[in-house]
Amino acid sequence: MNILLLGATGRVGRYVIEDALAANHHVIAVARNPTKIAVTSPNLTIVEGDLYKLEALIHALPHSIDVVINVVGGDVFKPSTVVADSVQAALTIMKALNVSRYLGITGVAEMQAQGIGGAITMALLRRSPIRHAVHDHDHAFALVKASAVNWTLAGCPYIRDSRRDGEHTSKYTLKPDYFPGGFRVISPQQVADFLVKEVDAQRFPQRIVGIWN
Ligand SMILES: NC(=O)c1ccc[n+]([C@@H]2O[C@H](COP(=O)([O-])OP(=O)(O)OC[C@H]3O[C@@H](n4cnc5c(N)ncnc54)[C@H](OP(=O)(O)O)[C@@H]3O)[C@@H](O)[C@H]2O)c1
Repeated sequence: MNILLLGATGRVGRYVIEDALAANHHVIAVARNPTKIAVTSPNLTIVEGDLYKLEALIHALPHSIDVVINVVGGDVFKPSTVVADSVQAALTIMKALNVSRYLGITGVAEMQAQGIGGAITMALLRRSPIRHAVHDHDHAFALVKASAVNWTLAGCPYIRDSRRDGEHTSKYTLKPDYFPGGFRVISPQQVADFLVKEVDAQRFPQRIVGIWN
């Protein structure tokens, strides 16, 4: 598959590159600063671009993309619209290049709460220091849901860097649609593992899939 990757230089993005190349996909990685991508491969094309300079970016992209993976993010402690803006940009790119499959990330707050535990966690998240990121992801999810694309989102709790590199990379819990609450973690490697596997597996169309250890 030809994968267009937005957010390629981020914590999750760099593992998406590694995993997608290992799975013999071709990756078209968008980066504002291409020198941040250390990997080289005949199956990796790096396109210098900014989501806020969309016309130039679309112009620089090949017309053979099968799926978009969007893992763009910003500073979670400050008001921002970067995630919603990245979804809008991805949808515009997909329309221009006739791509129908979209994989991305959201938070657990966009899932349905399961029981009192889920409801309490969601209410706390919306009042927490990361409330700005929750708000941005709410807006991003509304855009994805209202679109006509074939989407799947990883519903991530706290994305914590692995304590041991490669720790249980392909072992994690997947729970579509419902978040049971509590403090849960997942590593960037595991989120990337799920997203790249979904390129082929397509197990969860039009669903947020909770992912945690
Ligand atoms: N951290 C958590 O606990 C958590 C929990 C749930 C969901 N999430 C979500 O998971 C996603 C990925 O998280 P992460 O930690 O991997 O993010 P990250 O490390 O902050 O990476 C963000 C990526 O977005 C890129 N980006 C930002 N603005 C851009 C622009 N205008 N044009 C092009 N690229 C742009 C960054 O590029 P540069 O390198 O050029 O800055 C970087 O590659 C985010 O949406 C985040 O909100 C995170």
